[in-house]
Amino acid sequence: MQKRIAILISGRGSNMEAIAKNVQSGILKDCCEIALVFSNNPDAQGLEIAKKMGIKTEHIESKGKKRIDFDTLLLNLLEPYKVDYIILAGFMRILSPLFIERYRNRIINIHPADTNQYKGIHGYEWAFSSGLNKTQITVHLVEEQVDCGKIIAQRDVDLTGLKSIENVIQIGLCIEHQFYSEVLKQIFTNQIIM
Ligand code: GRF
Repeated sequence: MQKRIAILISGRGSNMEAIAKNVQSGILKDCCEIALVFSNNPDAQGLEIAKKMGIKTEHIESKGKKRIDFDTLLLNLLEPYKVDYIILAGFMRILSPLFIERYRNRIINIHPADTNQYKGIHGYEWAFSSGLNKTQITVHLVEEQVDCGKIIAQRDVDLTGLKSIENVIQIGLCIEHQFYSEVLKQIFTNQIIM
C-alpha cells in the first residue's frame, strides 16, 4: 500500500524537490504519495517549487510562537491529512516531545554529517573546516534529543580534493538528493523495519 507523507521544510527545499520528482516519475512512484509540503517559514523557496509541481502546500509562521503552541497548531493541521510518515527536509525547528510521540518512529530526517560525530546545523562547514577526507550523510529517526535518533542509513561523501565549501555543499547535496529517496523507498517497501 502507498504511504502518505508530509514533507516539512524551512527554506530552499532541494531535498523536497528531489523526493517529489521521484514520487512523480522516479523510484518512489509506486510506494508513496505526498499529501502535503509544509513550511514554518511562509517565504520558503521550497513552497513555490512544490506549488509549481502541483503539490498541496501549507504554512504556519513559527516566528514568535512558543514551541508547544506551534507544534499543537502543526499537529492539528496535519491530522486531516492522515499521513503515515513525516519527512524532514531542511526543517529548521526542534520538534517537541508531544509532536514526536504522535508520530513515534515515523519521523525521518536527513543530516549532512555522521550524527555520532556532529549534530546541529552547518554540517558541511564542519566537515570542510575540520579537513576531513570524507563525511557521512545520515538518514535517521527523529527522537527527543536533537540529531540523536536511531541511524537508519549512511552514505559517504568523498571530500578529497574539494577546495571550497561551495563545492562540498554542491557535491553533498547531489548525493543527498539521490540517497534520501533510496532510503525512503526501502522504508516504504518494508525493506527497512524501524
Ligand atoms: C540539507 O543539507 C539537509 O541535509 C539538512 O538541511 C539541508 C536542507 O537543504 N538537514 P534543502 O532545503 O533540502 O535544499
